[in-house]
Amino acid sequence: MSGSYWDDFEEYQQEEYPISDFVEELADRTESAFGDIGDDYFPAYLGIDNAVKLYSLIRHKKPEIVVETGVCNGMSSAVILKALKDNERGRLYSVDLPVEAGTIEDRKGAVIPPGKSSGWLVTEDLKDIWELNLGNTFYELSKVFEEVGEIDMFIHDSGHAYEIMMFEFGIAWYHLREGGSLLADNTDKNLAFKDFARAKERQVYRMNKLAIMER
Ligand SMILES: C[S@@+](CC[C@H](N)C(=O)[O-])C[C@H]1O[C@@H](n2cnc3c(N)ncnc32)[C@H](O)[C@@H]1O
Repeated sequence: MSGSYWDDFEEYQQEEYPISDFVEELADRTESAFGDIGDDYFPAYLGIDNAVKLYSLIRHKKPEIVVETGVCNGMSSAVILKALKDNERGRLYSVDLPVEAGTIEDRKGAVIPPGKSSGWLVTEDLKDIWELNLGNTFYELSKVFEEVGEIDMFIHDSGHAYEIMMFEFGIAWYHLREGGSLLADNTDKNLAFKDFARAKERQVYRMNKLAIMER
């Protein structure tokens, strides 16, 4: 295991509007929306450092087709879309089964504020290269892959149960081109990413809880 893989990517900072400012603005918009509904609920978005690294990775790799699971408020989707826009190529296909705060008893994290919809952080200027599919990845992912065929990058951040992760990695791997990237957040929750990498004889590179292996 090594963090050096991630260190190889420069933070594609832009002079006129640095990407870290873009990410912090997303975080601020999220925090103020959650401020309105009290301390009980939290958004569970990709951390600021991870978001900046994810942006840099996409700028560097220039993927054409990216599939992600787990949108929630839309921090990761907005960052991926911004990177694809700045690359002037690529489309994002997302799958999410959002939960509105207060609608499921005891569910406090990874929720959207009442009245908001999945991916509400994503601004209009980024939406023309985005397809958002609402539903359980168990049903929706196969439809997405049927539509797009081969993909360049897959990012898991939906439910972090071992079975869900293994299911998503399996179907994504089948559609991932050779040299493509498989990523997952919250890989500390269980051994799914490690087990999958071992089965495929791939090296895992971690940065905090975000991990990547290459096909
Ligand atoms: C951790 S949040 C995603 C955070 C997002 N990637 C970000 O950076 O802001 C997880 C999201 O996945 C959704 N989810 C959980 N299990 C799912 C499943 N089996 N299928 C689709 N979405 C799921 C949750 O309801 C939530 O909207």
